[in-house]
Amino acid sequence: MSDNIVIAHEVHKHYKMGKVLVLQALKGVSFNIKRGSFHAFVGESGCGKTTTLNIVGAISRPTSGYVTIDGQDISQLSDRKLSHFRNSYIGFIFQNFNLIDVYTAYENIAYPLHLAGIPRKKRAAVVMDILEKVGMEKYATHRPTELSGGQKQRVAIARALVNKPSLVLADEPTANLDSQTGEKILQLMVELNQKLGTTFIIATHSQRVMQYAQSITTLRDGSIVDNE
Ligand SMILES: Nc1ncnc2c1ncn2[C@@H]1O[C@H](COP(=O)(O)OP(=O)(O)OP(=O)(O)O)[C@@H](O)[C@H]1O
Ligand SMILES: [Mg+2]
Repeated sequence: MSDNIVIAHEVHKHYKMGKVLVLQALKGVSFNIKRGSFHAFVGESGCGKTTTLNIVGAISRPTSGYVTIDGQDISQLSDRKLSHFRNSYIGFIFQNFNLIDVYTAYENIAYPLHLAGIPRKKRAAVVMDILEKVGMEKYATHRPTELSGGQKQRVAIARALVNKPSLVLADEPTANLDSQTGEKILQLMVELNQKLGTTFIIATHSQRVMQYAQSITTLRDGSIVDNE
């Protein structure tokens, strides 16, 4: 297997704005992301970070160019295969947590396993194990409204990791947290990255988050201006 888990080649993304206007959100970006790394996409608001993450995460398709994950060209997959691929290969962490309010922490985390057809008994063992890894075993029966922001993000991280994805994508994961809680969440992600070998790709404009990244790609107005 290649050293690179993600390869993006000349990716363009155009958004149609009405009949004539086209907004070029990505203007031919190419990058590689090393397996097991903790990588950040940075840049000012509107530079294309979320667009990039959504394309790598197979949530949206490039207008042209391609992305491979584990050697698989995801632009070649049908919608059905793509969603299956997404469920088994990729975990998502969002700025606003995106937990299901009527579910407990346990149920939120168990949900992707349920979708993957894992039987109930096996689910329980896996969920308790990951709850422990994120330090939330005492909160299994709490609903999101009964959790703090940092606790919600821990549950969201557990949910993102529960299917043992090769890749976790996090879009501004600490933006809605106070700086101390944000720091703890970042440390947790780095710890899980090291322990489990899961590749993390984070979009952020926070200097604090960048300090944790092993590699950084800087975007400006839809183009890559720096890779370090
Ligand atoms: N669905 C959409 N339709 C039209 N334009 C869009 C859409 N999504 C994003 N854009 C535009 O594409 C450009 C890149 O947006 P994107 O969300 O990727 O930026 P970002 O770097 O994530 O910004 P932020 O830091 O504010 O989250 C922006 O100009 C934005 O207005
Ligand atoms: Mg964004």
